[in-house]
Amino acid sequence: MPSGPAAGGEPPESHLLMVFGATGDLFRRKLLPALYHLMREEGIRDRCAVLGAARSPLTDREFREMSRAALAEAFPEDAPVLDRWCDRMIYYQPVGEDPDSYRALAERVHALEREHGLGGNRIFYLAVHPQVVPPAVRALGEAGLHRSSGWTRLVVEKPFGSDLESARELNRVLHRYFEESRIFRIDHYLGKATVQNLLVFRFANPVFESVWNRDRIDNIQITVAEKDGIGSRAGYYDRSGAVRDVIQNHATQVLSLVAMEPPPSFDAEAVRDEKVKVLQSLRALRPEDAVLGQYAAGEINGSPAAGYLEEPGVAAGSTTETYAALRVFVDSWRWQGVPFYLRTGKRLPARLTQVAVTFREPPVALFKTYDRDRPPGDVLYFRLQPDEGFDLLFDVQVPVGAPRLAAQPFTFNYEDAFGRLPDAYETLLHDVMRDDRTLFVRGDEVEEAWRFYALALEEEGRPEPYRAGSWGPKSAERLVAAHPRGWTLAPG
Ligand code: BG6
Repeated sequence: MPSGPAAGGEPPESHLLMVFGATGDLFRRKLLPALYHLMREEGIRDRCAVLGAARSPLTDREFREMSRAALAEAFPEDAPVLDRWCDRMIYYQPVGEDPDSYRALAERVHALEREHGLGGNRIFYLAVHPQVVPPAVRALGEAGLHRSSGWTRLVVEKPFGSDLESARELNRVLHRYFEESRIFRIDHYLGKATVQNLLVFRFANPVFESVWNRDRIDNIQITVAEKDGIGSRAGYYDRSGAVRDVIQNHATQVLSLVAMEPPPSFDAEAVRDEKVKVLQSLRALRPEDAVLGQYAAGEINGSPAAGYLEEPGVAAGSTTETYAALRVFVDSWRWQGVPFYLRTGKRLPARLTQVAVTFREPPVALFKTYDRDRPPGDVLYFRLQPDEGFDLLFDVQVPVGAPRLAAQPFTFNYEDAFGRLPDAYETLLHDVMRDDRTLFVRGDEVEEAWRFYALALEEEGRPEPYRAGSWGPKSAERLVAAHPRGWTLAPG
């Protein structure tokens, strides 16, 4: 990398940022605060006009007022100056995909570009329901908005299809109007500073890279745990499930970064080529490598929590999985025989994302007699969120009493060292503006990931129930039974 605002460098070229779905949650909660940060700290304000588009009938004034209110919530201390920041925000209400409406939009865009001297540079950000993406791209394309005297870029959010066929179809639609090099597919996990740092950790610190292989590593676990249930998202989630929602994208992106070979450079294509090679090396999943679960009623933080089937909007008798644990093998020279475990779930006891790299036991167990029951071997934990940082767990001799060993961590915390971490959306928006595609998912990468998970998705039967507030179904324990630590998380 380096990437995101921390990368510094010249401010981006003047441009129009057009956001579809500008009255939605993603815009208000994530994009707007990210944009505000960039405007405030990066001198972007005079180089950017924001055109919001959505189905609600709003005037420019109402749109600014809505944006101002959302910003005031995120930055209460800045409330007095926010009007000034919103004066370059404009609103347009397209009528479905009606060509006349999009032609009128094109005229509005040209007028804004002239008025603000934006050089014909355009970012189209589709913060809309996945079903709206293909028709919106077609409408933009048919109105000729994808061609201009400057550059045009298209930003789309996950999910990129729901299986291999739909992902291919989506790619076909996008490519009809935008070359791959103009497309920025967002998996927000790649925007997290801790996820990017996986590469820096590995390739800037040869001390670890020299042991990053089958000779020294016993197993690697990637956990994306959530306390929340599905909230009000049953409409989407009940057709999606944990494999499609988190494993196929966020957890697999982390797997690619942990397992990839060093790229020849940090050029976007070089990095993405190496990630794709990991996906191409994944061994076909067997049914015994997957455990799927669904939360039943239980307790979170001492309060009763409803089961998935009782959540509003979930189909009666739904077999959608809210938990998935998979054992995955990367068939490469480096990783032959090392199991990678990927697990995610809703209604687990904690919200955390971690990678645990367990190193092999010492070849001779010299200290076995000290403490027979203690699992041997060092573990490196990447705390991707929250309490971002890492811990290297290693053994020391307890200096008092009978001879015995204790596992102690070497610990690093981002916040102590660097203060606030940028939000993923700040980093990603910044990189779109500067045309850096390293942290975005390439079309072939999406298709490779769907190809791999097709089998897990086909195999889906009735998921095993687990109590809300527990760490998932019992069978998930059996999946890791060969490892003395079982599922492992950072201490503390
Ligand atoms: C989203 C999923 O992509 O990622 C959600 O749709 C999930 O279901 C979320 O909760 C997790 O993201 P984060 O950044 O909170 O770990």
